[in-house]
Amino acid sequence: MTNKPQAGYEPIETASRDEISALQLKRLKWSLGHAYNNVPHYKKKFDAAGVRPDHLKTLSDLKKFPFTTKEDLRQNYPFGMFAVPMEQVVRVHASSGTTGKPVVVGYTKADIDMWANVMARSIYAAGGRSSDIVLVSYGYGLFTGGLGAHYGAERLGATVIPMGGGQTERQVQLIQDFKPDIIMVTPSYVLVIAEEMERQGIDPKKCSLRIGIHGAEPWTEQMRKEIEARFDMDAVDIYGLSEVIGPGVANECVETKDGLTLWEDHFYPEIIDPNSGEPLPDGELGELVFTSLTKEGMPVIRYRTRDLTRLLPGTARSMRRMGKITGRSDDMLIIRGVNVFPSQIEELILKQARLAAIYQIHLSKEGPMDKMDIYVELRPEVSGKLSPADMEAAGHELQHYIKSYIGVSTDVHVLEEGKVERTVVGKARRVVDKRPKG
Ligand code: DLL
Repeated sequence: MTNKPQAGYEPIETASRDEISALQLKRLKWSLGHAYNNVPHYKKKFDAAGVRPDHLKTLSDLKKFPFTTKEDLRQNYPFGMFAVPMEQVVRVHASSGTTGKPVVVGYTKADIDMWANVMARSIYAAGGRSSDIVLVSYGYGLFTGGLGAHYGAERLGATVIPMGGGQTERQVQLIQDFKPDIIMVTPSYVLVIAEEMERQGIDPKKCSLRIGIHGAEPWTEQMRKEIEARFDMDAVDIYGLSEVIGPGVANECVETKDGLTLWEDHFYPEIIDPNSGEPLPDGELGELVFTSLTKEGMPVIRYRTRDLTRLLPGTARSMRRMGKITGRSDDMLIIRGVNVFPSQIEELILKQARLAAIYQIHLSKEGPMDKMDIYVELRPEVSGKLSPADMEAAGHELQHYIKSYIGVSTDVHVLEEGKVERTVVGKARRVVDKRPKG
């Protein structure tokens, strides 16, 4: 462990704070002008707020500018937020919105190049080098995970196996035969792969994987421990969102594993109070907001991610870090008046020796009251070996912990291995909300 900045993939990662701030200011002025001059939506929003790009003299003047939300993007569906003519857009992606229209994002050639670079930085920060073989098991397609990881690994000079998500048996076969050093995949799916290996009598600890680069969904420190122990590899966190670029907005450095270094020469972060919109000082928990500094195709100005975290000083790099995402300002569950984050429940499940990190939370109504049922699987090593009474006792134990730590009553159903719905492509569906809306 060290607190001194280490050499990164690019010199700017370890530049002085003054140098980074000067670059940010220069780029921020450009980005505000680019958005204002080329996207009617931004011109309208800035004019209504009485601000012009030349009002920004220092980085802290950014707070005078209006926020951008997912709703703004939806209203300009599909290409209304693009700042360049369509002939300069070389690729589009779309995020898998759960309701309504997807959010569409566009990239110029320079954007794709910048993205490959920040992804190469990310893989390098995770410990990857040009001599490594990288298994990309994020989905390819409109989702940014697969192609983002792919281009970054190629940029680094590594060997890419463009597997994509799903086909778990095939994943295992490729791991056994091609012997990748690195796997890039969601944290929930890497555990499904471990399970398949064990089913086939293969010990994941003995496989070639040295590093797992996991993101696209929230995961906890307990989950990291679980993955690292199952595979005997380093599991590091990668963060990003389609609206800002895709994966590679921030990545954990393997030497510290203390939160994710933000590539803040391309993405300017702020933390705000999600209720008042007021910026909060570094260190305080709030909603993460990004302004793109170099993006041509679809610049975003003060984009509200809804992700909750805090900004922290740099350790392994001079750039600031963000803590693990603790939840979203919009996925918070309110159960009988109690605020609950699924990540809190996951942490408690993983503290139980007999329970696996494979679970689903079902919300329904019992009369006027919210009801929360948790379906959770036994770990493979105990599955099929416990009596019904022991399984019930394991459920009661978890119920007790949830009641005392989170303060909410639940019904826990402990099931044998393989009985909880699996998501093999994309994100695990952790919450099934069957409560009537409104
Ligand atoms: O999930 C991009 C990505 C792909 C990131 C692969 C990492 C790895 P979207 O589909 O637009 O993009 O979803 C973005 O996913 O706002 C967060 O709520 C969540 N998310 C992404 N990474 C993490 C993470 C991709 N490491 C949304 N921890 C974001 C927690 C994450 N949540």
